[in-house]
This record gives sequence, C-alpha cells and structure tokens, in this order.
Amino acid sequence: MASKKNYILAIESSCDDTSAAVLCNTKVLSNVVATQEIHKQYGGVVPELASRAHQQNIVPVVHQALAKANIDKKQLSAIAFTRGPGLMGSLLVGTSFAKSLALGLNIPLIEVNHMEAHILAHFIEEEDMGTPEFPFLAMTISGGHTQIVRVNDYFNMEVLGETLDDAVGEAFDKSAKLMGLPYPGGPLVDKYAQEGNPKAFPFPKPKVDGLNFSFSGLKTSILYFVQRETRKNPDFVSENIKDICASVQHTILEILMDKLKLAINQTGIKQIAIGGGVAANSGIRSRLKEAEQTMGWTTYIPKFSYCTDNAGMIGIVGYLKFLEGKFADQKVAAKARYTIGS
Ligand code: KG4
Ligand code: ZN
Repeated sequence: MASKKNYILAIESSCDDTSAAVLCNTKVLSNVVATQEIHKQYGGVVPELASRAHQQNIVPVVHQALAKANIDKKQLSAIAFTRGPGLMGSLLVGTSFAKSLALGLNIPLIEVNHMEAHILAHFIEEEDMGTPEFPFLAMTISGGHTQIVRVNDYFNMEVLGETLDDAVGEAFDKSAKLMGLPYPGGPLVDKYAQEGNPKAFPFPKPKVDGLNFSFSGLKTSILYFVQRETRKNPDFVSENIKDICASVQHTILEILMDKLKLAINQTGIKQIAIGGGVAANSGIRSRLKEAEQTMGWTTYIPKFSYCTDNAGMIGIVGYLKFLEGKFADQKVAAKARYTIGS
C-alpha cells in the first residue's frame, strides 16, 4: 500500500489556529494556517472568539489547502482531524466539518490526538529534517503544553512527565506581559534575551519531583521582583529589559534542561525530539546543539512550521493510521481532555 499515492486532507482547530493540509503519503503538499489575530488585543486566547473565527476560516482554509496542493477533493483517500485535547468550542468546528466532509465524499474518517501529532510531526518527509529512531524521548513545549514522552513506536507512547500548572509558553507569555510586552511575548523575550546577561537577575527554580514541571511560581517571583524594583525606579523594566528577558529565559531553559537530563538518566535514551512553538526559541536550540557535542545526545527539531499548531502534523498521523486501517466512525466526538495513549 505504501507505494500507492494516498492523499489525506487534515484539519486542525484545537486552539486559535485554523489549519488545513494535504499530504501525499508522508509528504506535505500544502499546509495552510490562518492565525487568529483577534486575541492579541485581549492578551490571550478568548475561547468563544476562537470558535467563531474557526467557523469563518474553515471553508476558505480547506479550499486553499486543496488548491495549493493541486488536488481535487474527489482524489482524497481520507480526512484526518484533531479530536483533542483543546478548547471544546474550537474542536467542535473541525470535528463537525471533518465528519460531514468524510460522509459526503464517502471516505474514511481518522481522529488524531493533537499531542501525538506534535510528536509524530518528526516523521513528515522533508529535506533537512532527520527522523528519530524508536525508542526516543519527545519534549513538547508550547503555549498549551509541556510534556516529556517516551515514544516506543508510532502509537505506543508513555507520558513520563508534564506540567502541573502553566505550560512553558505561558511562562514566557505571562512573564512578557509583566514587562509590558505584547501577546504572545515568547518571541520578544527570546529576541531581547539574545543581547542580555542571563545571570543578571537570578530567579528561583521550582522544586518538583520526578519529571513533572511547574512554572506558576516563576511567574509570581517575576511579578514581585518587577513590583519591588519599579517602586525604587519607575523606569527599571525599560532600562533593564534585555537583562530581565535573558534572566527569565535562562531560568526557564535550566528547568527544561534539568528535566531532560533526568529523563535521559532514567531511561538511558539519548535521542531527543522537540516540538511545539517554544521549540523556536534560539536558547533551547543552542542548548540542545551544545548537548550533542558535550553529552552525546542526538537531537531533532522540526521545521518551525511543523512545530507550531498546524494541520501538516495532523496529516502525518492521519496517514500512519490510514496504513493501519485505524478509522473513526461518525459517532466520534471531540474530546477536550485527551491524554496520549488513551
Ligand atoms: O505551538 P504554539 O504555536 O501554540 C500552542 O499550542 O500553544 O506555541 C505558541 C507558544 C507561545 O506561548 C509563544 O510565546 C511561544 O510558543 N513561542 C516562543 C518563541 N516562539 C513562540 N517562546 C519562546 N521563544 C520563542 N522564540
Ligand atoms: Zn499544540
């Protein structure tokens, strides 16, 4: 079957990006993402507005994905969609659309776990992108998730640790907000950090057992720090923005690297694959490259467009499930809480 050309249309609508992709087997032919700008003015994602924007975007985004791939919907072999986890109102839009289209075209429907998709994005066939071998460790770091997963096979994964409160992207965004930076602040913190001193302001690292994470304490200590210093000097933040960003980023990276080291010690697996929007961070990228040299790790970082929420990653899971005949029926419902392997 693998030599045959199978065309999968994939749909992602779990949070605030409406995305559609067309794959031919493991190759992504198109991957269209409509990012919802409306949330910027609120400093975070507003679920009701996200759901409404998905309804407006989904038809044009799907059309665009088919047109870019130069594929007619009659050529499609299956429709894959994000079933969860995510915002219920957002998931419902993609789920209902995918179910109706699969029914109309009389082709198989494939449900996809968004977190598994962030991991399996590494199997998209792309120049300059290596593919990890099983077993490997995956660290998914984004605005919605922070997990370390042992990946034994495509559909045999085990969550070793995850955040107990905020996701790492939220830690970046909330810290940025405290410094008066616009949402999402992660990329700006990264930009300023590159010119600042990471040791200028030490922030405490949380003490969390095992491979779980916690980021809410860091946000609180940054808040108190900024309030205290601003009382002494109202211009403290603007005068020290580079050093504060570098120090915040340094603390976050230390937390991530400490847990990765622990996961490697516990499992003996030295292959690390990362994904999620925070994988774009220049600091984490250079730390991982450094670890290849100093600790003998092998690291995999996908193209940025496959790191952030996108339907290409849903499509690769769709294709892998298609090969195994893992289809969903029309009764399938969106699942806001959907853990890996459940
Ligand atoms: O994967 P993503 O697009 O959406 C979610 O599933 O959340 O990730 C977005 C998150 C935001 O929190 C954003 O601030 C963060 O990724 N991010 C970064 C960088 N680029 C994006 N954080 C730190 N450094 C970056 N360069
Ligand atoms: Zn995501």
